[in-house]
Amino acid sequence: MRSSIFHLVPLLAATLCAAAPLEPTNFLLVTSNQSSPNYNSSDLQVVSATSLFDPYYQPALLLRLIGPGYGSLPNFTLTSGTLHTTASGPHGVGQYEYNSTVVAGGAELQFLASQQPQGNIALEGGYLVTVDGESDGWTVCDSKLSSRTLWWKGVGGNCTQTWLHAVTKAPY
Ligand SMILES: *[C@@H]1O[C@H](CO)[C@@H](O)[C@H](O)[C@H]1NC(C)=O
Ligand SMILES: *[C@@H]1O[C@H](CO)[C@@H](O)[C@H](O)[C@H]1NC(C)=O
Ligand SMILES: *[C@@H]1O[C@H](CO)[C@@H](O)[C@H](O)[C@H]1NC(C)=O
Ligand SMILES: *[C@@H]1O[C@H](CO)[C@@H](O)[C@H](O)[C@H]1NC(C)=O
Ligand SMILES: *[C@@H]1O[C@H](CO)[C@@H](O)[C@H](O)[C@H]1NC(C)=O
Repeated sequence: MRSSIFHLVPLLAATLCAAAPLEPTNFLLVTSNQSSPNYNSSDLQVVSATSLFDPYYQPALLLRLIGPGYGSLPNFTLTSGTLHTTASGPHGVGQYEYNSTVVAGGAELQFLASQQPQGNIALEGGYLVTVDGESDGWTVCDSKLSSRTLWWKGVGGNCTQTWLHAVTKAPY
């Protein structure tokens, strides 16, 4: 679909490319305490990979930090301000396209296996995940089952600020 748009409107394509020269179409999400990009995600400071998390088989998947030793990491695409990823359904049954819900302050980033309205997520500079144009509201907070999950403007004393980077290679 994107390539046909580019054929029809070459000028728009050139403008978009100039605005976001490095924007990846399929990426991993990692957290870091640095906001500037690093070509090699292993070299980001305090970097952590993320994976989907489904505490107690709730419908909404969350993102949690995951250390070395994982099997695989989820990858994402971004269209209409919404992140998309593929994951198995509750109890590991079936494969679904999960879509991020409209991000709200004081809540975890959530993904549902249903169509979502226009979202408020974008990539700044082609790598830094923003909400409503802001990049500095992501927090990592202590969550259920001893996990640390990604929030937008989590305010608990257990929350620490982070930046969310879209990268093409896993940091570890
Ligand atoms: C990130 O954390 C490391 C280690 O705690 C620290 O040395 C560094 O200054 C921090 N970077 C930023 C941008 O806060
Ligand atoms: C990325 O950085 C890590 C750690 O600094 C290093 O071991 C690895 O070789 C680098 N990878 C590339 C492709 O430069
Ligand atoms: C993205 O993840 C899916 C399912 O987890 C996998 O089948 C696919 O190969 C991955 N794509 C890339 C480009 O890594
Ligand atoms: C997720 O959103 C996409 C694009 O809007 C849609 O095609 C897909 O059906 C949605 N996923 C589910 C499980 O409904
Ligand atoms: C950490 O902060 C979040 C966000 O305010 C809160 O919901 C959660 O209960 C807190 N976790 C613990 C273990 O206190």
